Amino acid sequence: MKHLIDQLYKDSNLSKEDFLKILQCSNKEDISYLTKKANERREESYDKKVFLRGLIEFTNYCKCHCRYCGIRSENKKADRYRLTEDEILQCCHKGYVLGYRTFVLQGGEDSYYTISKLVKIVSRIKRELPDCAITLSIGELSYDNYKDLYDAGADRYLLRHETASKELYEQIHPYMSYENRRRCLKDLKKIGFQVGAGFMVGLPNQKDEDLVEDLMFLKELNPHMIGIGPFIPHDDTPLRHEAGGTVEKTVILLSIIRLLLPKVLLPATTALGSLHPTGRELGLKAGANVVMPNLSPISVREKYALYNGKICTGDEAAECRKCIQKRIESIGFNLDLSRGDYINWRRLQCL
Ligand code: 5AD
Ligand code: FES
Repeated sequence: MKHLIDQLYKDSNLSKEDFLKILQCSNKEDISYLTKKANERREESYDKKVFLRGLIEFTNYCKCHCRYCGIRSENKKADRYRLTEDEILQCCHKGYVLGYRTFVLQGGEDSYYTISKLVKIVSRIKRELPDCAITLSIGELSYDNYKDLYDAGADRYLLRHETASKELYEQIHPYMSYENRRRCLKDLKKIGFQVGAGFMVGLPNQKDEDLVEDLMFLKELNPHMIGIGPFIPHDDTPLRHEAGGTVEKTVILLSIIRLLLPKVLLPATTALGSLHPTGRELGLKAGANVVMPNLSPISVREKYALYNGKICTGDEAAECRKCIQKRIESIGFNLDLSRGDYINWRRLQCL
């Protein structure tokens, strides 16, 4: 096993068969060797730095039907909310005072926010807080819509591919198209966004071979950011009785991804922190280098419930900021409050 890990460290790639062997490894010593190499690789580019992003969950209305997700349109129990433009700006200003220089605007696919409304919000944040980066995470749109948002000043876009298996993708995403998802990711890159893809670990019917396909897809796409987290069932979804993903597997995948794409921005996700009291710390020690604390108003926190047991639903932005700093420092890492762009990133001005 160790020679496979060394090979992955050296070449930043492996064959499918070898990835499968690492994924199926259960030897503790080998796993801690993998984690150690991933940690080394992260340190070469990022030292002990952990970037913070302020997450603003601005709408939980969603027209999609994703079978795993607590805010899917069929979930009549979800208590729906939308933040106004002013409320979103207030979150950003509050975050700015706490030191954040990146804001992630995330929401369900909610047509209430037309492109012109979104363009207005993005340009206003850029006008009022010009030294901040804006990341959007609002699902599938057309090339022209993405381009308008980029031209308005959005810097980055998160759109997880969710799974690279077409069959599995179609099972869990009724009425959606696997091809369109990939088209979106390609368009986002072409336009000039720093792009984030990613997947869930432990989805029902997901095989290790599917996870290997996720790795191959990511290597080919070469995104700037990768968000992965364990699937956690939500009580008001059709997948409520399924088993979820594990911390162990997610952590192994984080390490593999760090070795596969050495410079990628890799969050230790909230889902990982929700599954284990120190899940995010485990993620950071295994190669992750980003954390995304919540900046949404306390009154809506619980309503953005994608899965059961989400952490930080009762904590003020300032508390999360303090808590996360303590956690990061407790494992010997340092908070980095700069924009935290991808290494050597230059925004394309005209396309
Ligand atoms: N468990 C874990 N992650 C989930 N997501 C949505 N629902 C769940 C769930 N039940 C993830 C998806 C989505 C991201 C915003 O949250 O991967 O892209
Ligand atoms: Fe929110 Fe710890 S990060 S309370």
